[in-house]
Amino acid sequence: MSVKIMKSIQKRENANDKIYTPPQVVDIMLELCEYKKGININVLDPCKGGGAFYNKLDYPKSFCEIDQNIDFFDNNNFYDLIIGNPPYSILDNWLKHTYTICDKFCYIIGMYSLTPKRLKTMEENNFHIEKMILTQVPTWFSRSYIIVCHKGIKKKDNNIIFDYKFLGNKCLYCNKPCGGANKDHCKRRSADKECRY
Ligand SMILES: C[S@@+](CC[C@H](N)C(=O)[O-])C[C@H]1O[C@@H](n2cnc3c(N)ncnc32)[C@H](O)[C@@H]1O
Repeated sequence: MSVKIMKSIQKRENANDKIYTPPQVVDIMLELCEYKKGININVLDPCKGGGAFYNKLDYPKSFCEIDQNIDFFDNNNFYDLIIGNPPYSILDNWLKHTYTICDKFCYIIGMYSLTPKRLKTMEENNFHIEKMILTQVPTWFSRSYIIVCHKGIKKKDNNIIFDYKFLGNKCLYCNKPCGGANKDHCKRRSADKECRY
């Protein structure tokens, strides 16, 4: 993606902030961070949106969502796990706050958002990536990384577990081909709540 396109996205109000995560992707993330029903850990969905993550979690669970006047930045409780799809336009501050209120988090972020500078800041905050998956949600603009990050001293022989998930070329909501102009193709974009044809 060119710098010009990236800049034009960032200038949009709340650029890429409302993105609805398909259930299949949520399941991949829950599995990656070894979250199981009945696990009895204190987990936070920091930006609930329509509840893609929250609805799949067991109690004890909490959520934040600015549209419901529950601001993540006002939440200073401590969590065993934070899992979600954070708003892209405020990612630096989002990560900064995440580091202060959990031991482990699992986020899906745009591939180009995982910058060396952010990784350096992560290390300075005593967090490191334990696992990562490269994927492309068919109706989303860019590829994404799913990362599971842990707090603690990084071991010298720490190897990041890396994998990829090919999610196919069909819309994960309606199962129709997507990305083409064909009238049968799903035209859904990441910020859409419904499929479009
Ligand atoms: C990328 S969407 C993810 C929505 C949902 N979790 C999902 O994956 O389908 C990001 C969400 O963050 C919310 N949000 C933005 N700023 C926030 C804040 N300061 N505190 C809590 N939620 C916020 C937006 O309203 C939006 O619903």
